[in-house]
Amino acid sequence: MLKRIESLRAEASAAIAAAPDAVALEELRVRHLGRKSELTRLLRGIAELEPAERGPVGAAANAARAALEGELAARRERLEAAEIEGSLAAEAIDVTLPGTPPVAVGHLNLLTRTRREIEDVFVGLGYRVMEGPEVEHDFYNFTALNHPPGHPARQAQDSFYIDPETLPEAVVNERGLPPGPTDVLLRTHTSPMQVRGMEAQRPPLFIVVPGAAYRRDTIDATHLPMFHQVEGLAVAEGISLADLAGTLDHAAKALFGPERRTRLKPDYFPFTEPSVQVDVSCFACDGSGRLAGGERDPLCKGTGWIEILGAGMVDPNVFGFVEDGYDPETTQGFAFGMGIERIAMLKHGIPDLRLFVESDVRFLEQFA
Ligand code: PHE
Repeated sequence: MLKRIESLRAEASAAIAAAPDAVALEELRVRHLGRKSELTRLLRGIAELEPAERGPVGAAANAARAALEGELAARRERLEAAEIEGSLAAEAIDVTLPGTPPVAVGHLNLLTRTRREIEDVFVGLGYRVMEGPEVEHDFYNFTALNHPPGHPARQAQDSFYIDPETLPEAVVNERGLPPGPTDVLLRTHTSPMQVRGMEAQRPPLFIVVPGAAYRRDTIDATHLPMFHQVEGLAVAEGISLADLAGTLDHAAKALFGPERRTRLKPDYFPFTEPSVQVDVSCFACDGSGRLAGGERDPLCKGTGWIEILGAGMVDPNVFGFVEDGYDPETTQGFAFGMGIERIAMLKHGIPDLRLFVESDVRFLEQFA
């Protein structure tokens, strides 16, 4: 009898140790320790044994039962731990793996890039970047820039006027009156920020102002009703035309290459006196006007020079329009304005202004 108990225990023991999962383990418990199991029946039948046998058989059967229960519990714990470890391993995410972006990584638009390049040149010279409103008063856009009402240069910049009734807040014009139909407009250049800049800060003042400007133009390869400029303004004691020439020569070399030369030609703007046009030596023909094959360079039209911006010494009248007075007798400064699209077109050989607004990825992707 004792031998039978011993072999039952050994058999159950081996099966428990090999049980692959919780379900198998439960089956083993029922088979070896359940009500109908041989061990249970054996314990129940002890009373029918010879008195001398009862003690040792009962003790051995109980010991076997206790041992098997212990082994079952231990095996159950092992299986549960293994199951948790298995699912942890299966569900693990390696956060260090590089992800797969759902769409290709984009890049800055060429206009943004060019704007930043221009800003960087002047920030490197100590200028601050400033921005101003695109919906502007006639006063800042024209009057304070020495275009009195009726001045013909106003017509040269056909404007988009804004119905003052549609503005989100009530505004007054420069005479403190409610604005009329031509008192508020989309700025036709960034130059209104000259006077606004001088009203925001006393000299010395060195600012560049990037931003959009609007003109009622037709749309073709060289005209869009919306374009971008960078305005520049330097006002400090003793600023002269030589500072203008040196500053813009430095900027042209920084933007178009260190071999470039610049020249000034007389020009006219109502708010600068004298006014100049700044030309840079052509980078396609290196200023010769002829390409390597001897033919006329189409970029500079054979002149060897390319116009890049308008500039001049701030007209004393403009200082007079600054609120709280810039004294025109003692204050001097220069201003310039360049087109961001124009600089980008020249630098990258872009033939048509409309490419900037057509959102054709074949164009945009060339400037990653
Ligand atoms: N505002 C002028 C334009 O849009 C450019 C300019 C700026 C000229 C500053 C002189 C000084 O054409």
